[in-house]
Amino acid sequence: ARLVVLVSGSGSNLQALLDACADPAYGARVVAVGADRDGIAGLDRAAAVGVPTFVERVKDHPTREDWDAALTAQVAEHKPDLVVSAGFLKLVGPRFLAAFGDRYLNTHNTLLPAFPGIHGPRDALAYGVKVTGATLFFVDAGMDTGPIVAQVAVPVLDGDDEETLTERIKEAERGQLVEQVGRLVRRGWTITGRKVTVP
Ligand code: GRF
Repeated sequence: ARLVVLVSGSGSNLQALLDACADPAYGARVVAVGADRDGIAGLDRAAAVGVPTFVERVKDHPTREDWDAALTAQVAEHKPDLVVSAGFLKLVGPRFLAAFGDRYLNTHNTLLPAFPGIHGPRDALAYGVKVTGATLFFVDAGMDTGPIVAQVAVPVLDGDDEETLTERIKEAERGQLVEQVGRLVRRGWTITGRKVTVP
């Protein structure tokens, strides 16, 4: 299966996928990595293993719709079976969702529907929950609202701060991402309403 991965930052989730894809039995390969900004480690990780990269910055386009169309075209060029948002910090638009809506995965660093948005672990900590985790879901038009594929629980420990909790979640998140992407590409999936079925 052909994977396109979208990143905005360090790309540790991307790296986990790249490492998994090194084993042919995994059933997938990363054919391109896209970003919404230059100069991030995620792009370097792709380049280091010879995976093509592209950057589409919102500010290089007259409107958000134009950006959405350009991003859609870039991703489509690589004919992905699955697109994975791995720390991609932009909400895609209607054009992108029309093209990839049933095969666009995102990983979020809380147990959704609690604490959506970019400060999930900070918000979970501030709320005082004792368990949080990571959620893998198919993206819909909302923010962190799409049909859930899998979740993994992570304890909040006494003495955690935003950094220690974020790191503990990311470890579990990477494992879940690799396991579930492998399962999806090997077995396929259907989405009916909010229900994701893997045969
Ligand atoms: C992940 O924890 C993701 O849930 C959050 O940002 C992090 C991305 O990290 N939105 P990385 O770039 O994969 O290291």
